[in-house]
Amino acid sequence: MNMSIALSLHVLFVVIWVGGMFFAYVALRPAAAMNLDPPQRLSLWSAVFTRFFPWVWLSIVVVLGTGYWMLFGPFGGFANAPVFIHIMHTLALIMTLIFFHVFFAPYKRLRQAVESKDWLKGAKALGQMRILIAANLTIGLITVLIATAGKFFI
Ligand code: HEM
Repeated sequence: MNMSIALSLHVLFVVIWVGGMFFAYVALRPAAAMNLDPPQRLSLWSAVFTRFFPWVWLSIVVVLGTGYWMLFGPFGGFANAPVFIHIMHTLALIMTLIFFHVFFAPYKRLRQAVESKDWLKGAKALGQMRILIAANLTIGLITVLIATAGKFFI
C-alpha cells in the first residue's frame, strides 16, 4: 500500500458512511414519516438498515485500517501527528462506538419488533436509532471539516 491508495480508500469509505447517514436522515426519514404508517415504515427501515449496515462495517474496517496505516506509516505515529489527526482519530473512535451501540441494541430490537409485529416496540427502537444516527452524522460531518480544513490551521 502507498499513501495515494490509502488516502483515496480512506476518503471513499468516509463518503459512503457519512453520505449514507446524510441521505437516510435528511431525505428518507421525513419522506417515510410523511407517507407511511408504522407497519410499513418500520419494515422499510429494518430492510434499509439491513442493506446499509454491512457497508458501515466495511467502512469502519477500511477507514480505521487506512487511517492507522497512514498514522503509523507516513505520519510517523501519534507523537509526530498534527493536532487535526488526533481530533479525527478521537472522533472516529466515538463514531465507531456509537455505531456498535446502534447495531447491537436498538437495531436488534427493531428487527425483533418487526418480526413479531410489535409496532410500539419498533417505534421506540427506531426513535433511539434516530437520535444516535443524528449524533453520528453530526460528528461525521464535523470530522470531515476538521480533516480537510484542519491542516491549514494547525
Ligand atoms: C482511526 C481513525 C482515523 C485515523 C487514524 C485517520 C488518519 C488520517 C490521516 C493520517 C489522513 C491523511 C491526512 C493528510 O494527508 O494530511 C487522513 C485524511 C482524511 N481523513 Fe482520516 N483518519 C481516521 C478516521 C477518519 C474519519 C472517521 C473521517 C470522517 C468521518 C476521516 C476523514 C478524513 C478525510 C476527509 C481526510 C482527507 C484530508 C485531506 O487530504 O485533505 N478520517 N486521515
